[in-house]
Amino acid sequence: MFNDKVAIITGAGGGIGHAVAKELKEKGAKLVLVDVSSEALTELSKDLNLNKDNSILLKADVTKEDNVKYYVDKAVERFGKIDIFINNAGTEGKVSSIVDTNKEDLDFVLNVNVKGVYYGLKYVMTQMIKQKSGSIINTSSVAGFMGSPGLCPYVASKHAVIGITKTAALEAAPYNIRVNAVCPGPVDNRMMRSIEEGSLPGNGDAVKTEFLKLIPLGRYASNEDVSKLILFLASDDSTYITGQAYRVDGGMNAK
Ligand SMILES: NC(=O)c1ccc[n+]([C@@H]2O[C@H](COP(=O)([O-])OP(=O)(O)OC[C@H]3O[C@@H](n4cnc5c(N)ncnc54)[C@H](O)[C@@H]3O)[C@@H](O)[C@H]2O)c1
Repeated sequence: MFNDKVAIITGAGGGIGHAVAKELKEKGAKLVLVDVSSEALTELSKDLNLNKDNSILLKADVTKEDNVKYYVDKAVERFGKIDIFINNAGTEGKVSSIVDTNKEDLDFVLNVNVKGVYYGLKYVMTQMIKQKSGSIINTSSVAGFMGSPGLCPYVASKHAVIGITKTAALEAAPYNIRVNAVCPGPVDNRMMRSIEEGSLPGNGDAVKTEFLKLIPLGRYASNEDVSKLILFLASDDSTYITGQAYRVDGGMNAK
């Protein structure tokens, strides 16, 4: 289904990015894997047995506009087009109340999760408009629909991603480009471990127990639960879907 499609994945070295890269590779896509951590990229490359024919690894910081232009230019230079853009790099920041959050911590989260997503769209859409085709998936969160004490910068950033997604979808539709967002609930990976531990240092397990009570299906998502939705939105099975924000949350937001 993805034979010879070219996909850029940002935050490729993280839990969700890794799962998306694995599934897209298995289905024949060419991969442009972007992360700020070169160690994570090397790990990913070994794990997926990647080679120069089917992938390029690019260390880039999505908060820096010139880095974003660089990864988009490299993708086009190497593979000639961009069919799929998984705009996924993100950070949870520190767990702290609004009154205790300083400017640096606020800026850090907004820079990665909002400006990073925005810059990605700016440069990838420029290319996709020339092609008159493409599918873009931004990673938001259930935190894009609800509040979460101690995570205000993250919540603000994920609400912003949904607004950005809708606007990008409207601007891109005349060029046959679709833009959607995926909104995972808690995923069983590093980011949730950091939020659990940040909420109650030394007793993250107790925080997980409380989170689990909020999820009707009774478990966190796996990285693969999220990647399956992303692949559907990237594929030609969803050619009439744009401007949407889909939850993958075990029923959490149904309450
Ligand atoms: N884990 C969850 O519970 C959860 C829930 C909802 C949404 N999300 C979102 O899913 C996305 C992926 O997160 P994940 O769960 O895989 O977590 P993760 O921490 O495993 O992965 C995030 C990746 O983004 C990279 N990254 C961070 N800042 C970057 C920057 N400035 N430039 C380039 N790369 C950068 C990290 O190095 C890391 O590899 C994020 O946008 C996150 O907010 C995660």
